[in-house]
Amino acid sequence: MTSSLDAIANAQEAAKRNLWLHFTRMSSYADHEVPVIVRGSGAYVFDQHGKRYLDGLAGLFVSQVGHGRQEIAEAGARQASELAYFPLWSYAHPKAIELAQRLADLAPGDLNRVFFTTSGSEAVESAWKLAKQYFKLTGQPERYKVISREIAYHGTSMGALAITGLADIKYPFEPMTPGGVRVPNTNFYRAPAFVGGDLEAFGIWAADEIERAILREGPQSVAAVYLEPVQNSGGCFPPPPGYFQRVREICDRYGVLLVSDEVICAFGRLGYYFGSQRYGYQPDIITFAKGVTSGYAPLGGMLVRDELMEPFTAGTATFLHGITFAGHPVSCAVALANLDIFEKEDLLGNVRANEPAFRATLEKLCDLPIVGEVRGAGYFYGIELVKDKDTRETFNDEESERLLRGFLSQALFDAGLVCRADDRGDPVIQLSPPLICGQEHFDEMEAILRTVLTEAWSRL
Ligand SMILES: Cc1ncc(COP(=O)(O)O)c(C=O)c1O
Repeated sequence: MTSSLDAIANAQEAAKRNLWLHFTRMSSYADHEVPVIVRGSGAYVFDQHGKRYLDGLAGLFVSQVGHGRQEIAEAGARQASELAYFPLWSYAHPKAIELAQRLADLAPGDLNRVFFTTSGSEAVESAWKLAKQYFKLTGQPERYKVISREIAYHGTSMGALAITGLADIKYPFEPMTPGGVRVPNTNFYRAPAFVGGDLEAFGIWAADEIERAILREGPQSVAAVYLEPVQNSGGCFPPPPGYFQRVREICDRYGVLLVSDEVICAFGRLGYYFGSQRYGYQPDIITFAKGVTSGYAPLGGMLVRDELMEPFTAGTATFLHGITFAGHPVSCAVALANLDIFEKEDLLGNVRANEPAFRATLEKLCDLPIVGEVRGAGYFYGIELVKDKDTRETFNDEESERLLRGFLSQALFDAGLVCRADDRGDPVIQLSPPLICGQEHFDEMEAILRTVLTEAWSRL
């Protein structure tokens, strides 16, 4: 008993002394334990003390099939003993071939070419580099700019950061890679008054803002538009009806590539293999990561239309880009085993069948004075918190700091729910549970949120 307590204390000390947590104020652990998650099973994870938490965020929008899947772990182990590593630089390996073919079969339209990476940021940057080199090879060398939406998160490496629309996480690293251009997102809850009452008109306006940005920048200089099917950052903004169809028309009119950044929205998060399938649009490139392996090993990539590959299929042209661990054999084997589970257990069917119940369960929280709106799609929801429901007034910086960082994040975790309290836009709580979840999990989330949000309101 003493020795296990000693082990926990030693791990705490080492975590505080040697480990650097991402996007984390390390000072907040000066007088707090660092949470250490040691094991997972299904929709739950367990900390170093054996306490159980409902994983309402699928880790970080990752664990689609849930935790503790023996068959995926075994597929990875088998691959590691057969061929642990070989690069995709000039060579192929069987699992990368098989996975590329399988993803091409699942993807919409003629997205038949897969370029693997190890992460979402690398996928986003790879798509930008491809767009730039493609246009240089096809006689349009001035096209390099990328348009993306305000508050959208597209990753943290320097290229991806230039596409990300969050000023606060860019500022310390300025100057940015040149070429990032911002347009409004599809936050209908905070739509400008002149389109505030009409979702469709709002969507057309937001899409047309992309056209205005292209014209402002000079159409000959714009390479790509990056959009998530449902924008994560800011709290799950779904596209208004007709939005993506209009964006597709605009991109075609000016010869600009449409990149669907599906690092979160692919692999069942919205009830389809790809989010673009749910909303009926055809991207030129899809970027993916996270759910492709459900996190059992790291993998990302981009799916590319045949036409974008054409300049690279003849002569000496080479896409001058590569990453040592991209398309790692273990990760590809794991991704295939992950997709097998999707099929065997009809996870897409589970999300589609349960989506209305999940939404309805979360919408019960709308009777709380602090809940302004529940929005999202599939198994992907944001709950916007407000100070005044009628005026939609949000919290000031001090209240946000006190409410989100000072209370909510910790209180939700203490109450046994992993989710995200985020104020990169207006304050929201985000939920994105494993795709195996059902009504009992929805009820558990709702009950914990109700208790903690009620307490939060009383502290304001
Ligand atoms: C839409 C989107 N793009 C890109 C990224 C970056 O992915 P990664 O953290 O794997 O680099 C993320 C991460 O959350 C994301 O949500």
